[in-house]
Amino acid sequence: MQALRNFFRPAWSSAERLDDKTVVITGANTGIGKETAIDLAKRGAKVIMACRDMERAQAASKEVIENSGSENVVCMKLDLADSKSIKEFAEAINKGEPKLNILINNAGVMVCPLGKTEDGFEMQIGVNHFGHFLLTYLLLDLIKKSAPARIVTVSSMAHSWGSINLEDINSEKSYDKKAAYAQSKLANILFTRSLAKKLEGTGVMTYSLHPGVVQTDLWRHLSGPQQIVMKMVSPFTKNSSQGAQTSIYCAVEPSLAKESGGYYSDCAPANCSAAGKDDDLAQKLWDLSCRMLSIEWD
Ligand SMILES: NC(=O)c1ccc[n+]([C@@H]2O[C@H](COP(=O)([O-])OP(=O)(O)OC[C@H]3O[C@@H](n4cnc5c(N)ncnc54)[C@H](OP(=O)(O)O)[C@@H]3O)[C@@H](O)[C@H]2O)c1
Repeated sequence: MQALRNFFRPAWSSAERLDDKTVVITGANTGIGKETAIDLAKRGAKVIMACRDMERAQAASKEVIENSGSENVVCMKLDLADSKSIKEFAEAINKGEPKLNILINNAGVMVCPLGKTEDGFEMQIGVNHFGHFLLTYLLLDLIKKSAPARIVTVSSMAHSWGSINLEDINSEKSYDKKAAYAQSKLANILFTRSLAKKLEGTGVMTYSLHPGVVQTDLWRHLSGPQQIVMKMVSPFTKNSSQGAQTSIYCAVEPSLAKESGGYYSDCAPANCSAAGKDDDLAQKLWDLSCRMLSIEWD
């Protein structure tokens, strides 16, 4: 299937180097995040793997070092389901790193049973959107100082089944795990769009993307029958390395240097849903996110 896809659209590749650049990748201990870390480390970047489980992170960083041939890889604790952890992580980066050129908001949870973050947010909107919104806010001064810089947020085509429930963003009245995932991935696209506008003229560009249907741990909360279906369709899906390509493309492709706020898939611009282009909704989500996180961000 990948070969067929490549026949119609040759696989993207680039020899672009990232020497002297610093990259943070959330959820880099497995799946798409780990493959993104390997690729960007190979290009010469300092790669900071921001992970919630330090034991898994240490094991993964050894793999990233081995597979990239670069020693310039570190892992740091970041739990996006806990604003205290996000603040501690951001403080450590802001104090310890002279620059941050690329932030990849990659970590995610999908269709998990109803759960709450430490701050009381529904887990999927909490980790996938609010966590990355707060992280980006706290790192933004350093990112702006490091311009040209890029902020890449991994969304999903699942955003197109979603809507933003401004009255009940935390699904407190009723919880549908698929709708909550779709909402969080639509939020990623709206955040990227609003952020691009706010960062106009700063040299910081923003991108959101669908990585494809990728065989990773993300599927862990699917039911038994759904897992079987996923196994059956696996020949038509991507492996983690293939799934990382659009993240890498958004992080390094020179022709995107003047583009900001867009949505990408298969290493090319893509169409998101009408809701993903709704600037009024994007502003309402922005305001709500600031209120929920008790921050002021104009
Ligand atoms: N796989 C697909 O088909 C697909 C399709 C569309 C979009 N995506 C998106 O791609 C991104 C990467 O997913 P993946 O497929 O690579 O899944 P994955 O293998 O499950 O990786 C997800 C990563 O997020 C981390 N994470 C989860 N909760 C976290 C938290 N509270 N704090 C910090 N890190 C946390 C995980 O850490 P642990 O290992 O500790 O759990 C893991 O490192 C996600 O945003 C996902 O929505 C994936």
